[in-house]
Amino acid sequence: MKTVSRIKTVQMLLQSARKTGTIGFVPTMGAFHDGHLSLIQRARRECIYVAVSLFVNPLQFCDPEDYLTYPKDLPSDQRKAASAGVDLLWVPSVDEIYPPGHCTFIEVGEIGNRWEGAARPGHFKGVATVVAKLFKIVQPHRVYLGRKDYQQVRVIQQMVRDLHFNIALRVLPTVREKDGLAMSSRNVRFADDDRKAAPILYKALCHAKRLVSEGEDDCRRIVRQAQSLIRSESRATIDYITMCNPVTLEPIERLTGKAVLLLAVKIGNVRLIDNVELILPRGKKRRIGGKEGHQIIDVEGNED
Ligand code: PAF
Repeated sequence: MKTVSRIKTVQMLLQSARKTGTIGFVPTMGAFHDGHLSLIQRARRECIYVAVSLFVNPLQFCDPEDYLTYPKDLPSDQRKAASAGVDLLWVPSVDEIYPPGHCTFIEVGEIGNRWEGAARPGHFKGVATVVAKLFKIVQPHRVYLGRKDYQQVRVIQQMVRDLHFNIALRVLPTVREKDGLAMSSRNVRFADDDRKAAPILYKALCHAKRLVSEGEDDCRRIVRQAQSLIRSESRATIDYITMCNPVTLEPIERLTGKAVLLLAVKIGNVRLIDNVELILPRGKKRRIGGKEGHQIIDVEGNED
């Protein structure tokens, strides 16, 4: 594996790799966990050449403290990337990505303004701008993204479509700890007691999934139950929980086909996002009332 920094070197290496076959690309901010590795491993299986970028993008952080304290461990990331079979680890500098005088930005409209976009103004402008630059420089055939960042995936899909990038996006399932907590680089910030409380998010997602599998189609009712479960955990503060159209991310009231439940919750000092896709089973009657028990069905549909 080569670790490089300069854009020119990346372009030179990729120019010759492109002649040999498919280039797979995984954009990251480093601090690799099994979620990143699942994307890299899938790219490795499907592509001749695997490039990974590691860039903590200042433009997508609203909170300077969050940017400055974002977890970093380059030697460990290099080891993990090399053993996962990465060919090229690209670690650009902020100065080269945003040279003095840089003033071009990308915004994707409403999809980027809702939910995370409202909670973290400018976040998706930062994501879309850096991702467009990375795509332009790497020119991959396939890009691998995690479904945990559901809204980010939608923003990138929209941008790829609108800017005519000739790239296939592969969106892979969220990788979770044994207790259901979605893997995230920021999980290292948890205090012990907060970490123990964090799986409440997964329980709420599983509960929503169970309600829908039983035919519940009233989104307000599903959201209310998810909220009440999360509020039963005193360390949790809900930022938002919403059921929306999986494409436009507009809120919906009645589930007719597919929806996504998106949530952002603070546990102690750590802000978590998670989601589950929900599909109303065909032929299921709408639930009227019904018990509010908390039997767990995991978000892939397997019962505990
Ligand atoms: O998900 C991330 O790690 C980042 O938002 C991304 C896509 C690499 C852009 O900086």
